[in-house]
Formats: sequence, structure tokens, C-alpha cells
Amino acid sequence: MRNITIDNITDAVVAAIGQNGDITPRQREIMTALVRHLHGFCKDVNLTTDEFMGACDFLARAGAVCSDKRQEFILLADILGVEVLVDMISNPTPNGETTGTVLGPFFRENAPVLPQGASIVQKHFDNEESVFVEGYVRDKDGNAIPGAVLDVWEDAPNGLYENHDPDQPDYNLRGRLETDDTGYYAYRALRPVPYPIPSDWTAGEMISFMGHHTMRPGHIHVVINKDGFRPLISQLYDGSSDYLDNDSVFAVKEELIGEFQPAGDALDTDLKVRFDFVLTAADTAMAAE
Ligand code: BEZ
Ligand code: FE
Repeated sequence: MRNITIDNITDAVVAAIGQNGDITPRQREIMTALVRHLHGFCKDVNLTTDEFMGACDFLARAGAVCSDKRQEFILLADILGVEVLVDMISNPTPNGETTGTVLGPFFRENAPVLPQGASIVQKHFDNEESVFVEGYVRDKDGNAIPGAVLDVWEDAPNGLYENHDPDQPDYNLRGRLETDDTGYYAYRALRPVPYPIPSDWTAGEMISFMGHHTMRPGHIHVVINKDGFRPLISQLYDGSSDYLDNDSVFAVKEELIGEFQPAGDALDTDLKVRFDFVLTAADTAMAAE
């Protein structure tokens, strides 16, 4: 097409898809929708050249800060609710399995392997509240899943994850625990507190541009792995935390909220919380299949 206009540009680009090379139906589907939505967005907001150049500069700066320790694009996707949306699309829970939510940027491989009931706390804080966390991991039919590995991590009472705080010991508030023959797990932790997501770079610029805030409600991250089941990437939220209704990354789900209650005399912690997980069998159909 040699006479491109504002009215035919979208169809012209869509018609070019696959013209000069074999592409799969999925590539065609993705590229067609991308072009149509992107063009629609530019027209909807009457995007100006200055705004377009500003966006290109913004993306270049976001890319420049990425390293093996920092993934700015995931953070930007979180602020726009995209990571959690993709998780919900990719990991349906058709049989009442526990829902997933965002992984976030603070996960570390190789957390210490701990025995049942052990504490993940290596450093104490004046304002801390200790909590005994326990529950069962089961399949959709209620059968125990022994040998499932829970990888857990959380922020300290100062709102910082260990790898962003030089004053915390390596792997503080992180651990890996295995379920016993009955599917039971237990560990001791600290009540997680609300904290701001990293906002020192382009993520902060986007949050300001949106007129939103940076805070997340208190939560403990968990990834559960067991052969024969899909890995579950999720979070346990403190039911009395601030920001449950206005999480900066839109990752809260009602069913992931736990009640942190007084522990009573039988335990050596201030609080206790019970949370059971139901894993999705590996052969469960994916949404895109
Ligand atoms: C987190 O919960 O660790 C997190 C999730 C998304 C963005 C930033 C932090
Ligand atoms: Fe977190």
C-alpha cells in the first residue's frame, strides 16, 4: 500500500504480518492483536510526537537499569496489573486449587532447608511480632501431598527484604520446608509489614504519572514445588494489614488472606496463622491450550 492514511494504517500493518516469512498461527494472533490494540491506544489518546519520544526514552531508561539483580519491566508490568493478569490467564484453578499471584522481584534461589517447625528468623527487631505458620498441602480431592517443598520469604519489620538491607544476615526470613507424610508444614516467622515497592527509577516515574502509591500489604511469599503438580507461586496476606484493598500491584486475592490470631500459651510465638494449599495437577489443561 503506497498511500498510507490514518484510516488504513492499521489494516496495512496487519496485512504485512507473515508476508515475508512463515509464522505460526500463535505468532499471527499475537502480532495482529498487538498492532490493533497499539494503534487503537494511539488514536484513543491522540498520542503526540513529544509523548511518543518521551515513552521511547522512558523504555530505554527502564532497560538500562535491568541486570541479573533487577528486572524493571516486571516491576512496570506489576504497577499496571499485567503480571497478575497474565498469571490468572495462564494458571486457571478450575477445581478449587489455591490461586497464584505475583512472584515479585525479591525471590532468591537456594534458601536454607529447614526442619518442620523451624524459625526463618535470624535477626530480631524491637517492634517484631512472631508468628507460627502452619497448614496442609493437598490435591484437589483432599489427598495429602507429602514431600512438597515450600520456599517462603518475607520482609523484616523495617519493611526491607534481607537482600536489600545490609544490616540483615544473608537469607534472613527465608527458608525451605517440606511437608510430612500427612501433607503438614509448619514454620516460625515474623508478622510481615506493609512496604513500598522499589520506586527509585522508572517504576517510580510511572506510579507518579498514574497518581498511585507504592505500598503493598503485609504478606509472606510462598512457592510450592512437587513433582506431578504445577509449581504454585503465591502469597499469604495478613488479614489485618493496611493496603489489602489498594495494593500497588493488585496482587491480593480474598482466598489468600489469612487470620493472624493470638497464639495462646501452647506456642512460643505471639501469633499463629493456619493456611492450607491445594495444588493443581500438572496435567490440568492450561487456558491457552
Ligand atoms: C513483592 O511482593 O515482593 C513485589 C511484588 C511486585 C512488585 C514489587 C514487589
Ligand atoms: Fe513481597
